[in-house]
Amino acid sequence: MKRFLRLLPPLLLFQVSPAFLGAQAVIKIDTDRVIGEVDPHLFGNFTEHLGRCIYGGIFEEASPLADENGFRKDVLEAVHGLGVTVLRWPGGNFASGYNWMDGIGPRDQRPARRDDAWGALESNRFGTDEFLKYCQRVGAEPYLCINAGLGSVDEARKWVEYCNEPGDTYLARQRRKNGRDKPWGVKYWGLGNEVDGPWQLGHKNAADYATFALEAAKAMRRADDSIQLIASGSSNFGPDSDWVGWNRTVLDRLKSEIDYISLHTYIGNRDNNFEQFLAASRDIEDRIAVVKGQIEAARVGNPNARPIHIAFDEWNVWYRTMVSGEFAIGRTGLEEKYNFEDALAMGMFLNSFIRHADVVKMANLAQLVNVIAPIFTNKQGLFLQTIYFPLAEYGTERGFESLDVLVRAPEYRPDSGRALSYLDVSSTYDPKTRRVFLNVLNRGEKQDIAAQISSVSGAVTGSVNVWELNHADLKATHSFGNDKVVRPVTRTFQPAAGGGAFAYTFPKHSLTVLTLQLN
Ligand code: AHR
Repeated sequence: MKRFLRLLPPLLLFQVSPAFLGAQAVIKIDTDRVIGEVDPHLFGNFTEHLGRCIYGGIFEEASPLADENGFRKDVLEAVHGLGVTVLRWPGGNFASGYNWMDGIGPRDQRPARRDDAWGALESNRFGTDEFLKYCQRVGAEPYLCINAGLGSVDEARKWVEYCNEPGDTYLARQRRKNGRDKPWGVKYWGLGNEVDGPWQLGHKNAADYATFALEAAKAMRRADDSIQLIASGSSNFGPDSDWVGWNRTVLDRLKSEIDYISLHTYIGNRDNNFEQFLAASRDIEDRIAVVKGQIEAARVGNPNARPIHIAFDEWNVWYRTMVSGEFAIGRTGLEEKYNFEDALAMGMFLNSFIRHADVVKMANLAQLVNVIAPIFTNKQGLFLQTIYFPLAEYGTERGFESLDVLVRAPEYRPDSGRALSYLDVSSTYDPKTRRVFLNVLNRGEKQDIAAQISSVSGAVTGSVNVWELNHADLKATHSFGNDKVVRPVTRTFQPAAGGGAFAYTFPKHSLTVLTLQLN
């Protein structure tokens, strides 16, 4: 018999295991098992001068839909619904050819320039003061990314001074002349974008980048020593790239100057294989784990070492509009149309970040509007893409601590890689209200999964709130006038009396957030 069992595939073994008779999965909540504080900046976003993200997206001066600043009011309302906490700008690849000084002062006098990152013309009518005002309207922390490609250390230093200088310097006076008396107090500054990528203007090897970034950090901190700095980490995971080596050099050389190292990841369902697509969390979490180890290695032995965290400052599904040929990219503007399975991928990414809340302290969806984005506009209005809804739910309904919940569920092996659980789970907890949020992605295409859910930290009391995103058609999309196809449903149910374990079935291909009250 033993020999026979050994021959069975792991999934079958799981299904006959006595431990799971009557319940295919087990989820146990223990509020003492805190992974880390869920940083609000995990629910950040990104706006780049690319396609119609800025112009025709968040900013459209002549539009009847715009306010006195040129900000699209309909877009602002949709952005509010996402609960965006931090907003990165001006790129992306655009940042590596951008001179911030082109984007200040009277709009009609600003120079139009070539945008050689995306093959476009940049009017510079939206610049630093417009962006920072936009962040205020949204209620998000601004995060500016310096030009570490073709730019200089001095440009970066002066940008900090323009934004944050309280005294009476020439640049602070310029800012005042441009309408902002008080310093903007920009706290988060990126030391360049994807400098490890050969596609980047001013791409450098790791050693050259570290030399530049170290001097930039030093000079920027002289302008304002309260700023937080994010080093450009790995974005290039191609087969020939030494992404681990890049981070090693960057961390080694910059460890006493930086507060974060960035990671970027885009995924796509290129093989039209749903379960494989949603297995991307393995790569995402492997990368987080490796960088976490590298951070620890860089700090080991120094009790006063500066804390360093991961800023996952670009992430999303992006593959349909990822065409090669430089200028084609500029023209198509990356206007990805998202479907239902992409919406599920949002839960997968956010679950991964929450499960690593001890080290991932910022994450920025790329991007906010039109360009690989949850909000899609034309001149008359907008529609909400399928991915909008999980982002809004996670961004606004959550606890403050990430919990390490125990999950035992059937596993699958979508490729030659290691097996993973059909249920992808993260959980957050609010110790004040004793509410637990259980975020569960069932990435099984064909099987509902019944789970026994229990808490060892007090009984579940009252009714359980359910938020569920599901659709029969994995490829269902939205368009103008038709954005109610993939929408979450909410309901409540009363778990059986006794407050012990309760049963809940997670339907196939669904994302569920259960909100439980502990007594
Ligand atoms: O978000 C689109 C692009 O993807 C960004 O400009 C770049 O940083 C990344 O390669």
